[in-house]
Parts: sequence; C-alpha cells; structure tokens
Amino acid sequence: MKLPAYDRMGVGYTEVRRADPRIEARIHRALGEARVVLNVGAGAGSYEPLDREVIAVEPSPVMIAQRPPEVARAIQAVAEDLPLDDNSVDATMGVFTLHHWDDVERGLAEVLRVTRRRIAFVTLDLDATADMWLCRDYLPEIVEHDRRVFPTIERLGELLPGLRIEPLPVPAGCTDGFCVALWDRPEAHLDPEVRRASSIWHQLPDEVSARGLERLRGDLESGEWGRRHGELRTRSELDVGLRLVVAELVQ
Ligand SMILES: C[S@@+](CC[C@H](N)C(=O)[O-])C[C@H]1O[C@@H](n2cnc3c(N)ncnc32)[C@H](O)[C@@H]1O
Repeated sequence: MKLPAYDRMGVGYTEVRRADPRIEARIHRALGEARVVLNVGAGAGSYEPLDREVIAVEPSPVMIAQRPPEVARAIQAVAEDLPLDDNSVDATMGVFTLHHWDDVERGLAEVLRVTRRRIAFVTLDLDATADMWLCRDYLPEIVEHDRRVFPTIERLGELLPGLRIEPLPVPAGCTDGFCVALWDRPEAHLDPEVRRASSIWHQLPDEVSARGLERLRGDLESGEWGRRHGELRTRSELDVGLRLVVAELVQ
C-alpha cells in the first residue's frame, strides 16, 4: 500500500473538521435499521454512529491516530481491497472519501460485495458546487481540479444499483469546515489552519490559491464581497452541491 496522502494532509484535521450534527442526522437516517455498519475512508471517526456496531476502514495512520476512544478501532486498509467477508455488514457509509480513492470502480465493487442492504455516501455534485461564490468568482480552479478526481453523480448511478440522490444543504455555521461548507464565513478561507484541513488547498498550485485568496481578501476589505454576497450571512442553509447518495440493495 503506498503512503496514504492523508499522512501529509490529515495533521490537525479534527480541530477544523468536526462532524456537523445536522448532516450527521441525515447520514444516520439513511443507514436505516442497519446494526452492523462499515465506515469506509473513516478518517478520525466523524459521523460514525455510536449506537451500532461499526467497522471502520481507513488507510492513513495519521487519521487513525486522531480517532477518539469512544469510536470503533479502525482497520488500516483501502476501499479497493476490503478485508471483510462477502455480505458481512448491513450497511456501508462513506463521507468525503470517494474522491480520494485510486479506483472508485473497484472500491464500489468491494463495497457491494461486503454489504447486505444499504450504501450511503456523502459526495459533491460539482455542477452545483461550481455555482458557489468561492468557485464561481474567485477560484474556478477548485472545480476544474475536482472534476478530475470526483466520480460524477451519473457514474455513481451506473456503479450502484437503484441510487437515490438527496440534496444535503449545508447549515450556516457548519461545524465541519470542509472548503465549501464555509459559504457563510468567507474570512475563514484566509486562515491557513482552516485551509490545511481541506485537501483541495494541498492540491491546487500555491500560486493559484494565493491569487484567488488575495482577490477575496481585497473584496472583503473593500466591502465588495458584502455587497455581492452579504445576504448569505442571513441564510440558515445553502445548497453547495453536497449530496447524500443512497443505494438500497434489497427491495
Ligand atoms: C476528507 S477525509 C474524510 C474522513 C471522514 N470520512 C470524515 O468525514 O471526516 C478522506 C479520507 O479518505 C481516506 N482515503 C483515501 N484513500 C482511500 C481509499 N483508497 N480507501 C479508503 N479510504 C481512503 C483518507 O485517508 C481520509 O481519511
């Protein structure tokens, strides 16, 4: 197994990326009655249910080391080669992980092999994300990059039978500070500690990020951001392209 990228990017992850309770409630509802749940790309344990048996699979030791004592112990492995028997879990969940896999097709074939009833992933529909102010006005390079690594929603529909796509609006003040979750807090993007916890800032060339962020800083200082987007600060949630995709394996 090659050195997981999150051994570099995952340092300090849990300080910025705390599971948001409103997103968590939607994920747990999607798991239905499942008693044994696989969390693939489990990271530091965000969004894992505590009231069911969880099998956590995660390749990065740096992420595994940040798992709090109350969550399941993680197995160090990748989605593409799950160390689990056929039909051994009721449901599989995966949050913000598909775009990190080397081979989504193989990983989802593995998930289908081990899962009996239900599969629920949180991912992005980049056609919608492209409209979010940060991507549209400052850094279109974010979506250009992400289109190379995220499976499209259409492709997921081909790989997972009977896929249901549910919009997952991001609440204002979302406690999970992934990049586009900060739609209501533009200043947060200027904080290097916040950026460090989202992989996109490790993947864009430094000069590209610096150019977009300098324009954002200028627009915040001049009041231009407020004139164009200030109304967002009064909203309770926004669709930034987050999607809960759910496959039912038994009807
Ligand atoms: C953005 S983090 C999300 C972690 C956690 N699910 C959460 O919501 O906080 C993405 C995770 O996917 C993991 N990952 C990367 N490649 C993977 C693979 N091939 N199979 C499974 N997980 C992988 C990374 O190590 C990282 O922990």
